[in-house]
Amino acid sequence: MSDISIKTPADIEGMRLAGRLGSEVLDYITPFVKAGVTTGELDRLCHEYMEKVQGTIPAPLNYCPPGYTPYPKAICTSVNDVICHGIPGDKVLKNGDIVNLDITVIKDGYHGDNSRMFLIGEPSLLAKRLSDITYECMWLGIAQVKPGKRLGDIGWAIQQHAHKHGFSVVREFCGHGIGKVFHEEPQILHYGQPNTGEVLKPGMIFTIEPMINAGRREIREMNDGWTIKTKDRSLSAQWEHTVLVTETGYEVLTLSAGSPPPPAFITGSQAAA
Ligand code: MF3
Ligand code: CO
Ligand code: CO
Repeated sequence: MSDISIKTPADIEGMRLAGRLGSEVLDYITPFVKAGVTTGELDRLCHEYMEKVQGTIPAPLNYCPPGYTPYPKAICTSVNDVICHGIPGDKVLKNGDIVNLDITVIKDGYHGDNSRMFLIGEPSLLAKRLSDITYECMWLGIAQVKPGKRLGDIGWAIQQHAHKHGFSVVREFCGHGIGKVFHEEPQILHYGQPNTGEVLKPGMIFTIEPMINAGRREIREMNDGWTIKTKDRSLSAQWEHTVLVTETGYEVLTLSAGSPPPPAFITGSQAAA
């Protein structure tokens, strides 16, 4: 039996709006993500844009899952060996850094959750390759989404691609169902076996957000209660979209004018839209 909610048409409309707005925050912040800026300034700018321009609420602010302290900022900024949940602060971005900005907005009660990688100046070939392969991993996972497919098919597609390129998949954090609740059933593992797990049905909405490490998959937790780094200090990358299961396949909800195009191998109807 599954606890995965099937969204109503009204829910889906709400999630389309929240998703687009979440993506537009990333569009807005892009020109500011340069050497010399602090992660705290990026947080301040995004927060201001959400509240003053969009009329959205940053979902992370004061978010407090069981066992955590309230998250203190509006966005997550994860630099270099930070896998996820980096807290914005005084850190200055410098040439060669890679940074994930993870944005979740709430609009009319609905959550739009997405993240992109940004490369500062001239990153190493490894850093660029890690970001590109992680982006492909996310899209290979998305391309599996179709009624009748199973959650393990998504994880398998992601894992295969990461491993083929010598990278590892973080296991402690995963994608998630999303709607009026930020994190709900199901968990979307970014590894797994084909033809296993829950069967996808039209109206399900969840995120796909692989965290891929250049080195080993093990993590370590920082004392701030949130920041997660690679244990071996290798680089880590992540991309995230919120996705609706449609009658025929998928609809990515977190798209906007500035979204990078899907990789060329993605040929679904929406890829061209
Ligand atoms: N946006 C993250 C996700 O993709 C969650 C961040 S929780 C926070 O699920 F509290 F750290 F913001
Ligand atoms: Co998410
Ligand atoms: Co997110």
